[in-house]
Amino acid sequence: MQIKIESLEQIREAAREFVQHIGSSKVFAFYGKMGAGKTTFIKAVCEELGVEDVITSPTFAIVNEYRSATTDELIYHFDFYRIKKLEEVYDMGYEDYFYSGALCFLEWPELIEEILPGDAVKVTITETENGSRVVDF
Ligand SMILES: Nc1ncnc2c1ncn2[C@@H]1O[C@H](COP(=O)(O)OP(=O)(O)OP(=O)(O)O)[C@@H](O)[C@H]1O
Ligand SMILES: [Mg+2]
Repeated sequence: MQIKIESLEQIREAAREFVQHIGSSKVFAFYGKMGAGKTTFIKAVCEELGVEDVITSPTFAIVNEYRSATTDELIYHFDFYRIKKLEEVYDMGYEDYFYSGALCFLEWPELIEEILPGDAVKVTITETENGSRVVDF
C-alpha cells in the first residue's frame, strides 16, 4: 500500500486513509531518514484516531501515552532515536506496551529490530525531491 502526501495540507487526508488500513494490527514501525516526516505523520494519525493532546515525539522518556477521546483507547508513541543500549528498552518494560493490545507507533525501530514483534507493520516514509512524502506499508 502506498499513500502520497504532496504537501502538509494533505496530511489529514493521508492519515485518514492510513487509519482505514490499520485493521487489527497493533504495532507500526515507522522507518525513514531524519526529517522524513515520521513524527508529523504519526501526529496526524493520532489526531485522526481522536487524540486531543499535544502530540510531539517523546523527548525525556522513550514513550508518550495518548488516549483517544473518541474510542477511549490508549495509543503509545515511541522514539528510540536516543537509546544507547537495548537494555534501556528492556528496563522500560517494552513488552507491556508492545503486547498490550494498544496501538503502538514507533520511530527509529531499526534501533530495536531484535525485539520488534514479528507481526509489526513496517511503514516507510520517504521524502521526494520536490518535498512531497510517500508512505509505504
Ligand atoms: N508530509 C509532509 N509534507 C511537507 N513537510 C513535511 C511533511 N512531513 C513532515 N514535514 C516537515 O519535515 C520536518 C521534519 O518532520 P518530522 O519531525 O515529522 O520528521 P521525523 O521523521 O520525525 O524526523 P526525526 O527522525 O528527527 O524524528 C518538519 O519541519 C515537518 O514540518
Ligand atoms: Mg521524529
